[in-house]
Amino acid sequence: MLQFYIETVGCQMNVLDSELACSALLRSGMQQTDVSADADVILFNTCSVRQHAEDKVYSAIGRLKNWKEAKPYSVLGVLGCMAQKDQKLIFQRAPLVDFVLGPGQLDVLVETIEQLLNEKCFHLTIEDTENTQRTQRKKHNLVSPKKVIVSLPRAGNNHTDVLESFHLYNPDRLIPTTPPLSQEGNVPSPTLVRTMFGCNQFCSYCIVPFVRGPEQSRPPQDIVSEVQHLANQGVKKITLIGQTVNSYRHENVQLADLLYQLSDIAGVEQIDFVTNYPLSMTDDLLQVVRDLPKVLKHFHVPAQSGSDAVLKRMNRHYTATQYREMTDRIYGTIPGATMTSDFIVGFCGETDEDFEQTVELVKYCRFRNSFIFKYSERPGTKAAELYADDVPEGVKKYRNNRLLEVQIAISRG
Ligand code: SAH
Ligand code: SF4
Ligand code: F3S
Repeated sequence: MLQFYIETVGCQMNVLDSELACSALLRSGMQQTDVSADADVILFNTCSVRQHAEDKVYSAIGRLKNWKEAKPYSVLGVLGCMAQKDQKLIFQRAPLVDFVLGPGQLDVLVETIEQLLNEKCFHLTIEDTENTQRTQRKKHNLVSPKKVIVSLPRAGNNHTDVLESFHLYNPDRLIPTTPPLSQEGNVPSPTLVRTMFGCNQFCSYCIVPFVRGPEQSRPPQDIVSEVQHLANQGVKKITLIGQTVNSYRHENVQLADLLYQLSDIAGVEQIDFVTNYPLSMTDDLLQVVRDLPKVLKHFHVPAQSGSDAVLKRMNRHYTATQYREMTDRIYGTIPGATMTSDFIVGFCGETDEDFEQTVELVKYCRFRNSFIFKYSERPGTKAAELYADDVPEGVKKYRNNRLLEVQIAISRG
């Protein structure tokens, strides 16, 4: 039987996409292996949010030279955000790669791999005999072309065409999904459920709206029936995911309404949702979180910075004061609520004073935890076009460590 190996980097969107990809490949008759050398198909589900995430994938691909030589029929694919961002440029830097397939094209993953295996000198027959599957392979001498399967770029294309080119792909998955993806230590993580795809915020530093396409909220009835299906298979905890999950809106159904509907599903014991956008934190939503016992009283709401000047350049549309007010509303409405946040340090033009304002914000909001990132310029974004990446690396590092220390002191209480 053919074996596949998949490595995943990036956010929960990618973790979910990898679970769906694994499920589809298993259904097609392939087997999953966690030893890359044994695999006939190797996939990297990639992230473009920072340069470092991209570099790591290129080094990992570079290490596959011997594997490729030993298995010339094998297929190597780059999925996810780098595939959509860099497309055929990936072949220049990583010539071993056979195909790139963007996050809006997961529905054709299995057929793409099957085509490549066939084109690449294989005639494949899979015979099902009761419980056993036998795979026969015959070698031919064909060399397959490289494939680029991606969605349309947002710039220069009609909005509807772009939207349609990012396919919503939410099939029922095999439960349990692959353990390495869905477990942290020995504690099973909640099962991820997509509410939205893409993003329309265009924060100036961020590549996500370009690589994940326009925001699309899934119809609530699809989400409810997916969760119902998961609950029937024994899933008890779910995490709803979306780049700005609290902006979820399908016709007149908003996140607060969806939480009500999902709370009614028997078997579901715990629901949470990530990631929240500060300006979409409505009182309605807070009251629903307070009132529904199954919903976790926790909010991940990235602030990014505590300086108004920096927030303005980041195109975040709120001030530090507005963020503080939102925090007050969360703690004021829901006794015992907790918050976590994301910060970028060393963004273009960030002064010591700007940074101190971020420190003050962290102290004020008393986050349970913060994820702190050094600014990484992303070509194609507004920030890369408009502002110089002018904070020296040493200063970025210092601010990162300092903010982390402040956060750790708060986390320890
Ligand atoms: N949609 C979510 C998360 C997006 S990416 C949100 O808006 O909060 C996750 C985090 O990566 C962001 O919150 C931000 O802190 C960080 N990030 C995004 N682009 C970055 C960049 N160019 N450099 C450094 N960090 C970045
Ligand atoms: Fe990126 Fe901003 Fe969208 Fe988050 S809200 S994915 S940071 S553009
Ligand atoms: Fe990375 Fe794509 Fe998520 S760029 S952060 S994997 S949406």
